[in-house]
Amino acid sequence: MTHENRTGRAFGFATQQLHAGGAPADGINARATPIYLSAGFVFDDFEQARDRFGGAEDGFTYTRIGNPTNSSVERRLAALEGGTGAILVGSGQAAVSVAILGLLQAGDHLVSASSIYEGSRGLFLDNFSRLGITTDFVADANDALAWELAITPATRALFVESIPNPKNDLVDIALVAEVAHRHGIPLIVDNTFATPYLLRPLQHGADIVVHSASKFLAGHGSVLGGAVVSGDGFDWSAATSGVAHFPHLTEPTRSLGGRSFVERFGAEAFLVYARDVVTARFGPTPSPINAFLIQQGIETLSLRVDRQSANALAIAEWLEAQPDIESVDYSGLPSNPFHALAQHYLPRGQGSVFSFTLRGGAAAAEQFINAVELFTRMTHLGDVRSLIIHPASTTHAWRSEQQLRDAGIWPGLIRLSVGVEDLPDLLADLQHALDVVRASAPAPAVADLVSEAR
Ligand SMILES: Cc1ncc(COP(=O)(O)O)c(C=O)c1O
Repeated sequence: MTHENRTGRAFGFATQQLHAGGAPADGINARATPIYLSAGFVFDDFEQARDRFGGAEDGFTYTRIGNPTNSSVERRLAALEGGTGAILVGSGQAAVSVAILGLLQAGDHLVSASSIYEGSRGLFLDNFSRLGITTDFVADANDALAWELAITPATRALFVESIPNPKNDLVDIALVAEVAHRHGIPLIVDNTFATPYLLRPLQHGADIVVHSASKFLAGHGSVLGGAVVSGDGFDWSAATSGVAHFPHLTEPTRSLGGRSFVERFGAEAFLVYARDVVTARFGPTPSPINAFLIQQGIETLSLRVDRQSANALAIAEWLEAQPDIESVDYSGLPSNPFHALAQHYLPRGQGSVFSFTLRGGAAAAEQFINAVELFTRMTHLGDVRSLIIHPASTTHAWRSEQQLRDAGIWPGLIRLSVGVEDLPDLLADLQHALDVVRASAPAPAVADLVSEAR
């Protein structure tokens, strides 16, 4: 499919989410991409087997290396993100792992915003550290100097999330990209919460986008998946004082007959390496059934995200007006410190995962979460159904009290992932939970009542 309509204008997002990337050319012409549930693919003859392995002929060999259903999702996601290509993997964690392992090796250093998903933080602190890849965190991701100070001669990537979890403390992607590029290193953006419908990080200077496709992309809470999408603007032969930053991409390699990935693939060197050398070897390939369900989800992405963002904004406004609520961390609210960044980066909507803090602390949060009936108590997000969780005792439980305080994850903080239900039903559920908290709040002391009366 071309990317333009008959008047020469680029197709809109809703058209692309249905059609971009085309269908597999298998001569059967099923309208929905079929699930090619096969471990491998038949070679016509000896020569074809040899040519497919040798790269002289394009085509499928074995599902761990490529599969028509998975490739169809990859083409569509690449188009939606404005990238040159994508790799579909089995989960968001696998996507972050593939991106990092495609860039960094033992002795290298990563700098990440500290406000990121706990699973990614754990991956950096507990897993990559054992492979000799160290990570430092930047507390204020919008402070260019803080990034500059954290970067060392060994730094090989910067990492941020487009809408951080759970505080919505948005990052100025162009600002971080500018710092990264000044040092000849790429910026990786986890775009799970925004999705390419709300934000395309590559257009703002990012070089690699990763996703948990388990969330909004699949959308229905039934499958896990992940994706790595690459842009085409980064120079993979970057070097400092003659030392190549990515020697695995610039040095001759046996698999390319003595040529380097940069020589052979230019701007696509990282993506080809990440696919052929990282994904194909470590093997985080998704089942084509999951790929099919992710593609089904992508086809309604904009409709769901529009509705979820509208519901979330209305709920955030309602919560902000409640006296028992101390603060609401939603960048769509004019009172939010990240509202100006939201207007620049998220003009279509500010997403639907955010937190709010009850004045009553942990006890009130517990009562509130136990009282909801429509919201589902669950550690997931981006689902069509509305979900609720208490980060301090679940997703962020491994953080020390000081780290929780530094991140603004207070005992009374609750995270919502707002779904597509009818808004009045969601508000009624939240109102009921708040009534339960109010009913059990300790009565004000007589002295307080007297001073209020005065
Ligand atoms: C921002 C973000 N990135 C990555 C992941 C990991 O995704 P998965 O659960 O698909 O491995 C999550 C999971 O919640 C997430 O919120």
